[in-house]
Amino acid sequence: MSGMAVAENAAPALGDVLVRLAEIVFKQKGRDVQALAPISLRLEPGSFTSLIGPSGCGKSTLLNAIAGFTPLTSGSIRVDESEVAGASPRVGVMFQQYALFPWFTARGNVEFALKRFDMPSAQRRDAALKALAEVGLEGKGDYYPGQLSGGMRQRVALARTLAARPNVLLMDEPFGALDAQTRLSMQELLLVIWEMRRTTVLFITHDIDEALVLSDRILVMSAAPGRIVDEIAVSSPRPRSVENIDDAYIANRSRMLRLLRSADNTH
Ligand SMILES: Nc1ncnc2c1ncn2[C@@H]1O[C@H](COP(=O)(O)OP(=O)(O)OP(=O)(O)O)[C@@H](O)[C@H]1O
Ligand SMILES: [Mg+2]
Repeated sequence: MSGMAVAENAAPALGDVLVRLAEIVFKQKGRDVQALAPISLRLEPGSFTSLIGPSGCGKSTLLNAIAGFTPLTSGSIRVDESEVAGASPRVGVMFQQYALFPWFTARGNVEFALKRFDMPSAQRRDAALKALAEVGLEGKGDYYPGQLSGGMRQRVALARTLAARPNVLLMDEPFGALDAQTRLSMQELLLVIWEMRRTTVLFITHDIDEALVLSDRILVMSAAPGRIVDEIAVSSPRPRSVENIDDAYIANRSRMLRLLRSADNTH
């Protein structure tokens, strides 16, 4: 059958993340602190997964391990079949604190991030301008962070992450510090980019509505050391918005509230 032949010949989709029994124990003043219980999960290529759970349960620890910033105590993490061992251009990371260099322009900040991936300078410039245009900052490349609004700065941070064209995008409460209006427009922008690029996204948030509006799937973690205690498939049609919710949205919302309340009580 010709249809099957096409499927067999197609290159595998990129951005496949496989976490197997990943465990992290930190040493703190000579004591062992288990930050992450052995945890297993898969992020399918092109999927959008949110991770939610009480403060200190290990969400950032898990994200930093997938990013290659924190080594595992045991278990394994693979991205597209290769073991994670340090930062890689295939995996982009974005945090709440955008930490732009004030002495570099918007374009300079994006280009600087590409330097460590050994990209030649002409190509860096081109990639930076493209990424800035993609986040709606065309023509703002020569502005310094001090000349941009908070929302624009967070767009520069997103451009910086996107410029290396990662297959996986890890976001740790990226919009947590923004005002409600700016936050909504960043969520919309992220969805537009995700739908165009089909990047695999792992998105940490404390905001149930943010998770419900953005994700295909929500993983709920228990209190430390975090385990995944529930997995919610969000099938409400897109585009979604908090002003236009269906019964499934309401049911998922109550389920998450209940889970998070009981996860917090296990302290
Ligand atoms: N580098 C480190 N050294 C020692 N302990 C750490 C380190 N990083 C994190 N921890 C501990 O690991 C646990 C999990 O922290 P983590 O930052 O992953 O939580 P979180 O779920 O992201 O919380 P929040 O929602 O507040 O951001 C905490 O007890 C924290 O103190
Ligand atoms: Mg965190």
